[in-house]
Amino acid sequence: MPEATYHFPRGFLWGAATAAHQVEGNTTNNQWWKWEQEGHTNGLSGLACNWWNGRWREDFDRAAEAGQNAHRFSVEWSRIQPAPDRWDEDALERYRAMLRGLRDRNMTPLITLHHFTDPLWVYEQGGWENDQIISWFERFVRKTVDALKEYCTLWVTINEPNIYALSGYVGGTFPPGVNDVRRAMRVQANMIRAHAASYRAIHAIQRESRVGYALHYRPMVARSWSPLDHLMRSIRYNGINMAFPSAISTGVMKSPLGNLAIPEARGTQDFLGINYYSQDTVWFDLRNPKELFTRSGYPSEADVSENRFIANIPEGFYHTLEWAVKTYPNLPILVTENGVEDSTDRLRPRYLAQHIHQMWRAVNFNWPIKGYFHWTLVDNFEWERGWTQRFGLWALDPQTQKRVKRPSADLYAAICKENGLSSEMVQTYCPEVADTLFPT
Ligand code: BGC
Repeated sequence: MPEATYHFPRGFLWGAATAAHQVEGNTTNNQWWKWEQEGHTNGLSGLACNWWNGRWREDFDRAAEAGQNAHRFSVEWSRIQPAPDRWDEDALERYRAMLRGLRDRNMTPLITLHHFTDPLWVYEQGGWENDQIISWFERFVRKTVDALKEYCTLWVTINEPNIYALSGYVGGTFPPGVNDVRRAMRVQANMIRAHAASYRAIHAIQRESRVGYALHYRPMVARSWSPLDHLMRSIRYNGINMAFPSAISTGVMKSPLGNLAIPEARGTQDFLGINYYSQDTVWFDLRNPKELFTRSGYPSEADVSENRFIANIPEGFYHTLEWAVKTYPNLPILVTENGVEDSTDRLRPRYLAQHIHQMWRAVNFNWPIKGYFHWTLVDNFEWERGWTQRFGLWALDPQTQKRVKRPSADLYAAICKENGLSSEMVQTYCPEVADTLFPT
């Protein structure tokens, strides 16, 4: 194997991503907490990583010592605005302290304003199906950005609006556990409107801000040559991926149920946030009307994660970045999430190295990829899957709060510090892919 290093451009952002409900603990005033108490999840978020009581300090130390120069976290709407007419200044002060914590560690912050959770008062009034959400959300965004603007200029308005809408209103695994494509599309449309309003609000408050959203993008391939499988692939692909991107490109939201004009959405992004985990194989299934007769899975020979939740398909990451750059030429791209569930760290080192390698291929064409945020820093509460899936560079025992470093944390530290991926790193942490990543 030759000795070589795949380097990234100077100033590249390397970090990890987290979300409030998954790490803070005791976020009792949102719909997810309620959903957990109703028994829909595999365990309870409880104290999570206990960040609300200050454990973020030691985890930010870990990240900084491991060479990370950026961090993406989210603020919890239900803490900042616990009731429609109440703002909690102490909560905002805690977020300001976290931002100072990042500044003191020379880490660039990226704040997500909405990551799957809604205050109970919003949920009880119909959540994102209620058209009033657009002004509710905008008001919250104004207040929050105004309070935090001293420390942060990078903003993600909404994380994975497609997953929020589809898991809550088609898959039924997220609250409110509904099964109705029409309602899912209404939710997405309101998320697009709220995003557009927030985009303008943030720019009005902070001229130098850079605002985007984080798209969960799933590349897809048809299972066979059959035209039906191809048709299903295209229906599913558009249904899952395209609502937001189409609205932002053209002002018209594409949906499997028809198109909807949202002209104010056009051009409302300064960067595209991409969350990539895996690629789906899609086929026609008469028994699945709920998902418009489409079904998806992974090939039987795929390199799958512990719970088969993710297949390690690094080329899918390359195709994702290629799609992004062709759809929005010259628009900066941030990889806002990428990672794998793996409690034993059997798969993660090669998953990480192979995905970084694909990102390097993309960067090497001068595609404007500006940073990468690994999901995630420390094991945290994985929504309906609770604690059954472990995505952390550090393992967490939620009972004792003890953190234990996984080998991947060292591999990622080496990548961050070198601003690149070397043959030596691959040889040390995942020799099984050395020949494919560094061919002779
Ligand atoms: C979400 C994260 C989640 C991760 C892994 C993404 O869809 O944004 O909140 O933890 O996937 O499941």
